[in-house]
Amino acid sequence: MSDTHALSSLALQAVRAAEAAAVAASAWIGKGEKELADQAAVDALRTGLNAMPMKGRIVIGEGERDEAPMLYIGEEVGTGEGPEIDIALDPLEGTTLTATGQANALAVVSFALRGGLLHAPDTYMDKIAVGPGLPAGVVDLDASPEENVKNLAKAKGVDVSDITVCVLDRPRHKPIIDGVKAAGGRVRLIPDGDVAGAMGAAGLGVGVDMYIGQGGAPEGVLAASALRCIGGQMQARLVFRNEDEKARATRVGVTDFDRKYDLAELAASHCLFVAAGVTDGDLVDGVTKSGGLVNTHTLLLDSADHSVRRIRTARPA
Ligand code: FBP
Repeated sequence: MSDTHALSSLALQAVRAAEAAAVAASAWIGKGEKELADQAAVDALRTGLNAMPMKGRIVIGEGERDEAPMLYIGEEVGTGEGPEIDIALDPLEGTTLTATGQANALAVVSFALRGGLLHAPDTYMDKIAVGPGLPAGVVDLDASPEENVKNLAKAKGVDVSDITVCVLDRPRHKPIIDGVKAAGGRVRLIPDGDVAGAMGAAGLGVGVDMYIGQGGAPEGVLAASALRCIGGQMQARLVFRNEDEKARATRVGVTDFDRKYDLAELAASHCLFVAAGVTDGDLVDGVTKSGGLVNTHTLLLDSADHSVRRIRTARPA
């Protein structure tokens, strides 16, 4: 079996692992306990990953080994039999969304062939993403928001007022928000969850044309792996607030702190991307219970055939 085929054959178990994380986190929806919600997702996801027939290695996880006892960077997961797989994960993307009962919390995991995902440290990252079918380089991380909105509108053959940009609602993004509006474009602010935000720019979930902003670097790699599956363009650059963050980057192999990464560098190989809904959201529905069953809704993307599957599962609660 080819490596690509071997990875694709893990899809159902990957879905099952993400479902388990989503169900575990859902017990904490609206309870104001984001750490406990995250821990529940971590525990369930780890159990699910360890049942998978693979030689798995966490490259984007819950943190470094000394600060995260489970799913830390470098942890080996899986049965130890099967393909060598690198894993990026965010067991609960949207801890605050879950704790406050808001939309769009997800359990997210990406699986790639060994070496296929950027080993990003747990720092911030500047990101820009657009969908497929556009000329290469139509937007650029180093261009102003105004230029990007205008160039994207031109490439899409629409008026700038038809361009909507998804931005995390943070004070640091005021220049981006002001720039988009100055160009005549629209802004869709999201409270959290920029993996889904970037995917929205590629046509999945919320209908936006572009994602711009600074969020977590781990979330950036996860978004890139989704875009590798469905198509699109993305650029990103790590952002460091202090020397400790640079040291973290060095430890995961980053040598050029100013490097502008493109999609092929963020997610370099064949990958599977799985996102299970915790709360209802733009991409998938959240976990529900009815008639003694627990119901989940999961998005499964496979770069091997660029397929998009949405899987509804019901199992005894
Ligand atoms: P949590 O799951 O830790 O709540 O993170 C959600 C998130 O909104 C990410 O999607 C995003 O990349 C990051 O936080 C942004 O960080 P910050 O809240 O510090 O601006």
